[in-house]
Amino acid sequence: MCGIFGCILKTGKAAPIIHEGLKKLEYRGYDSVGFATIDSGALHVRKDAGRIDEVVERLEMEKMPGSLGIGHTRWATHGAPEMVNAHPHMDCEGRVAVIHNGVIENFMELKEELLQKGHNFTSRTDTEIIAHLIEEEMKEDVEMGEAILRALRNLEGSYALGIVSSTDPERIYVARNESPIVLGVSEHGTFCASDVPALLPYTNQVVYLRSGEFAVMDEDGFQIKNIQDGTSVVRELQEITWTLEMAEKQGYPHFMLKEIYEQPVSLRNALRLQQRYIDLLSAFMDRGRELFLMAAGTSYYACIAASYMFSRLSRLSTYPVIASEFIDQYGSSLGIDSVVVAVSQSGETYDTLQAIEHARMRAATVLGVTNTVFSTLSRRARAYISQQSGPEIGVAATKTFTSQLMVLAQLALRLARTKGKISQDEVDELDAKMQEIPDVVEEVLKRHGESIKDLVDKYAGEKLFVFLGRGISSATALEGRLKLLELTYIPSLAYPAGESKHGPISVIEDGVPVVFVCPRGNSRQNIVGSIMEMKARGARIISICEEGDKNIIELSDDVVEMPVGIPELLSPIPYIVPLQLFAYHLAVKKGLDPDMPRNLAKSVTVP
Ligand code: M6R
Repeated sequence: MCGIFGCILKTGKAAPIIHEGLKKLEYRGYDSVGFATIDSGALHVRKDAGRIDEVVERLEMEKMPGSLGIGHTRWATHGAPEMVNAHPHMDCEGRVAVIHNGVIENFMELKEELLQKGHNFTSRTDTEIIAHLIEEEMKEDVEMGEAILRALRNLEGSYALGIVSSTDPERIYVARNESPIVLGVSEHGTFCASDVPALLPYTNQVVYLRSGEFAVMDEDGFQIKNIQDGTSVVRELQEITWTLEMAEKQGYPHFMLKEIYEQPVSLRNALRLQQRYIDLLSAFMDRGRELFLMAAGTSYYACIAASYMFSRLSRLSTYPVIASEFIDQYGSSLGIDSVVVAVSQSGETYDTLQAIEHARMRAATVLGVTNTVFSTLSRRARAYISQQSGPEIGVAATKTFTSQLMVLAQLALRLARTKGKISQDEVDELDAKMQEIPDVVEEVLKRHGESIKDLVDKYAGEKLFVFLGRGISSATALEGRLKLLELTYIPSLAYPAGESKHGPISVIEDGVPVVFVCPRGNSRQNIVGSIMEMKARGARIISICEEGDKNIIELSDDVVEMPVGIPELLSPIPYIVPLQLFAYHLAVKKGLDPDMPRNLAKSVTVP
């Protein structure tokens, strides 16, 4: 996730406005920053790695000339957070400057073609190919807008783009496929930004560009076109009535709810990971004698779920380990044949970093899965994958959990292909189902986003909750419990359902709510027995199960019905969503702040 801002002013300098706009978008990324402005037909570009204020001051960017310009604050996806990878990116001639938020999936192929045509690249980003593609089209002697449209038609993936060129110095071009971009107009000029808060100081008259659209901005307004056929699109301006605070949360009352609803997009981004990183990590994993999946909190639950995936798909035994226990538990036996996959949203969790340092000292191979490309974990790991969820502000991990699972599932499938322990058809089928998961999550949000509140109203007064699941769903149960516990402070237990009769069942008495996570699959039959055990002791059963699963529905007091056909191994991704919503709405009902639960910090950097 990155932030984009652009403006064409009728009078005055664009650069200070771009600076102010990017500050409002800093939450979208902050590892490097860059501006491109145009003055008297000349293109000026300044950029570097670092936080916005620091870079802008050091490079005196507010002094850049011109009343037209674009700016970018970056959250690295392709290429390290260094000056060369900072946006804007330019073509060979230095006439076109491009800023981008998103991921271009086919950039390797396009780059190869452009290299063969003699283009020179200076960065390792996917974005730079766009400037060169436009340059290539400009050779056909077409107008700038047409050259850009033709270039865009080659792109696969997600993008919000801002483009300026010295050959067309009065305009900014913007385009969107999935990644957001909003246009705004006022008597002072025309603006574009990744998000409304950046526009609000200048205008509340906006238009949201839709996926597949392109716009040409000048100082008097903008024209929208369809990217594929170039036809004009007419759209009325919309008046934004949100306060700045509301706008920062895109109209959601809390960041957590916004982040829950961002999951279809963050999952699509996680699916766009470059295969070579998946290949690289899976190759390291395949070499190990023993494989640890090590993490804290929610990330640890992602590791538990992943251990089922690796075992079932690639016949690889893995050990999920809590980071703070890792050194005591396995520290002495680690060696050169050990592989440790550290999973951490922040990449800065103290316990996780301690454990990887220990593993490195013992010559183990340390790999990382993180949301923070420039984190300590990504620097210390032999290789890492960026899960590409974008910044998560709510203390409770939501979209980063589901993206971690998506990354780990891709690794498990990759290893399944290499090892050939299950049939190619099975791998292909699961792969196809995996591609559908973002849509499934979207469907779950539509179905249960509001209706979950009825369940919350019914159970708001409870003093204890129990969460149970079998197989991979025990990880979903654990994570669902953690969400409820950390947000509502209601004491709750979670166990693999088969374990409950070895102790936890003693807390069950009349009316205690027990949440069962029971997708269809191998573990489905056993869960029926567990539900009966609980019912016999007076528990009230809330089931998260597949739509129309008669046996489970008949045994349950309340049911959250999920779309049909989700493979059990991928089920933690959609099945956690109703539990995230349940915990969120219950916290709100209790008058608690779900974004900042007591005693917790987003990143636990202390022992
Ligand atoms: O940044 P990390 O993934 O390493 O963080 C690990 C835990 O601190 C984190 O998942 C924590 O449990 C969340 N607040 C749970 O919602």
